[in-house]
Amino acid sequence: LKLNLCVFASGKGSNLNSIIKSGIKNVIQSKVELIISNNLTSGALELAKKNNIPNYHLSLKQFISESEYSNKLISVLQDYNINLIILAGYMKLIPSEVCRLYKNKILNIHPSLIPSFCGQGLYGLKVHQAVLDYGAKVSGATVHLVDEIYDHGAIVIQKSVKVNDDDTAESLQKRILKIEHKLLPEAIRLFETKKFNFEERKVFFT
Ligand code: GAR
Repeated sequence: LKLNLCVFASGKGSNLNSIIKSGIKNVIQSKVELIISNNLTSGALELAKKNNIPNYHLSLKQFISESEYSNKLISVLQDYNINLIILAGYMKLIPSEVCRLYKNKILNIHPSLIPSFCGQGLYGLKVHQAVLDYGAKVSGATVHLVDEIYDHGAIVIQKSVKVNDDDTAESLQKRILKIEHKLLPEAIRLFETKKFNFEERKVFFT
């Protein structure tokens, strides 16, 4: 199944880049048809332009209300027939109207083993610093379905990495990012090739 992907990204966009590359290498069949960033100077928007992918700079701040913002997002997503949304280093909440309309069709990647070291305020380098401060011996990355609560939806896939004694937040981030770049395309591949069903919070792909 070929899906029309929309990637939301706030920062550098290395996960976005890995999705674009996976498409080029046929690791996934789906194509990134649309890129949305809340940050005008993000690497993600630069990547969009470099790869000639339609892109929008949209953030809640540009609108008079959340519903105006949601309407704009929904109309853009529908214009491009998007059927899978990927949050790849997206640091904002997706408005609840969009969550409802795209229920079970939004994925997020988080750089820890959820439910540890996640939730509001824990993003990017802060996650890795929190892991080190806590003295955890393993960390990793999680791809999960998005609901209206930060980092809360059902888990799709996870992969762990060992925390080394001499790790810094930066070195751990670097090692986990490498894993993320494989994990996110792998999750997209699951949505292309399998059906999924739920049992409580548990997701099964068959
Ligand atoms: C990634 O490590 C991603 O997991 C994390 O931000 C980084 C973005 O890097 N996301 C979060 O912390 C979300 N809570 P990138 O812009 O190079 O893809």
